[in-house]
Amino acid sequence: MRLIIHPDYERASIWAADYIAGRITGTIRAPGGADAGAGKPFTLGLPTGSSPLGIYRRLIGLYKANRLSFADVVTFNMDEYVGLSPDHPQSYHFFMWDNFFSHVDLKREHIHLLDGMAKDTGAECAAYEEAIRTAGGISLFLGGMGADGHIAFNEPGSSLSSRTRIKTLNRDTRIANSRFFDGDPEKVPATALTVGVGTIMDAREVLILACGHNKARALQAAVEGGVTQMWTLSCLQTHPHAIIVCDEEATDELKVGTVRYFKSVEGLA
Ligand code: GLP
Repeated sequence: MRLIIHPDYERASIWAADYIAGRITGTIRAPGGADAGAGKPFTLGLPTGSSPLGIYRRLIGLYKANRLSFADVVTFNMDEYVGLSPDHPQSYHFFMWDNFFSHVDLKREHIHLLDGMAKDTGAECAAYEEAIRTAGGISLFLGGMGADGHIAFNEPGSSLSSRTRIKTLNRDTRIANSRFFDGDPEKVPATALTVGVGTIMDAREVLILACGHNKARALQAAVEGGVTQMWTLSCLQTHPHAIIVCDEEATDELKVGTVRYFKSVEGLA
């Protein structure tokens, strides 16, 4: 696992966006030939939340400056609330179109999101796994992390081999996400469809952005703790090509030696 520590959110976001852009254009080669045989299109897993907003802004900027095209990119989003229609302002569909899709040249037929209104959620999730397989798997899965160390909506206690399915959100997550629902955790949908930890682990590369002091405990557990279902991001310890990009504040709970080591490895001392 690489841990790349930047002074602040802005610089961490720019680094992550430029890395993704480099992987799409091919100017940055996949580590260890992780993309061997994958060819085009480039398949990108995408998150919502506050964390990726800076990355999306930078990617849009690169597109507008004619430095990047998404014409050969296929996307799969991580998750969606159950019961919110695509035009609901807090649905992840709405978020993605508002903050990213409508600003770049992604082809509509290349965009995949779970349908939170699906009558048969089991069939919806199975079809999503199949669509990922048909697309040749995910080249790079971008993600954020909850303050309790969850990845996508894989709450503490989720199986580390889980696949796309419906999950009940825990109290921490509903409180954290209530900032988008008039501050009322009861208004946050109780369930969501989410890719599984296993789905994310199948990606050839995983890139996580973790910024801010409120992510410090989870980052410590994920990087220095053991692999455990209680901090699902810790699964990355067994992924061959995982990168966590963070800011200084998120390192508050890491050992000084850990921070020093990763900075020296990345030449960021
Ligand atoms: C939600 C999403 C996650 C996201 C997390 C953190 O629970 N399902 O994918 O990583 O929130 O969100 P934020 O980036 O806003 O801190």
